[in-house]
Amino acid sequence: MTPSADARPKAVMGTDMRTHLGATQIPNPVLTASGCAAAGRELDPFLDLTALGAVVTKSVQLRARSGRATPRMSETPSGMLNSIGLQGPGIDELLRTDLPWLAERGARAMVSIAGGAVEEYAELATRLRGARGMVALEVNISCPNVESRGEVFACDPAAAWAVLAAVRAADPGVPVYAKLSPDVTDIASVARACVDGGADGISAINTLLGLVIDTDTLRPALAAVTGGLSGPAIRPVALRCVWQIHRAMREIPILGMGGITSGADALQFILAGASAVSVGTAVFGDPNAPERISHELANALASKGFARLSDAVGFAHQSVDFPA
Ligand code: SIN
Repeated sequence: MTPSADARPKAVMGTDMRTHLGATQIPNPVLTASGCAAAGRELDPFLDLTALGAVVTKSVQLRARSGRATPRMSETPSGMLNSIGLQGPGIDELLRTDLPWLAERGARAMVSIAGGAVEEYAELATRLRGARGMVALEVNISCPNVESRGEVFACDPAAAWAVLAAVRAADPGVPVYAKLSPDVTDIASVARACVDGGADGISAINTLLGLVIDTDTLRPALAAVTGGLSGPAIRPVALRCVWQIHRAMREIPILGMGGITSGADALQFILAGASAVSVGTAVFGDPNAPERISHELANALASKGFARLSDAVGFAHQSVDFPA
């Protein structure tokens, strides 16, 4: 069923794009996505980092990691499979170099953290307390490229709850988003467990676990065998997840992501219930994509008559009565 003609917004001149990460207001609903541009330096020549809602940094762990063996990326139809394995310099280096670099430019940082145990997440949140320029934490409990599926806390509501509760206890003040996996039966129940544990919002979605076989070598294309699928191929799955989470908890903010390449794609996520979006895989082909998409989204909202981005959040749910 479509909204009645009267329920549709009327045309407006411009759209107020302000939104929130938890209680923190940000001027732009378009953020980068964790893992696609380290801490933002690679994108700096191509766009104004300060104009984005935030730079979401590559998931950081307590210690430096070299990641999984190569090859660890493979192109797929409308997508990309990666098994990076959380390569990164570790929290000391992030605090010493990357966060100050972002803060000096006036860019907002949403810091993504990852760990192999609940205590590691808590320690990371403690180390990051009060970090200059950090506006939010994204708690990555859904990386598919860890050594053991037992480390994918987002596949078990109780484990997800434990991580979020530990992070919340470690830093009671910072806006906290839990990043979820689509590889579960009921993503809304995992989201609810995260919110019960103390998350302010949900990041949806991380990549889907996938596989490519190289027909020349007759072996898996990635050294780690499986990897995380991203890009436009996963957009309908991501939208479905945002839709289900919003339907289950309308008051909880969602950072939507998964194959966004245009303002029209971003608009779909907003209409499904996201109050902000992350742009990831698109930057490999177009490093200006987050800035371009934020302009396209503003134009798309204005052309549909939305005076405020917030008026469009979840708009597609109007008059849809069935529960899914
Ligand atoms: C990786 O580093 O393997 C990807 C991280 C993620 O998907 O969470």
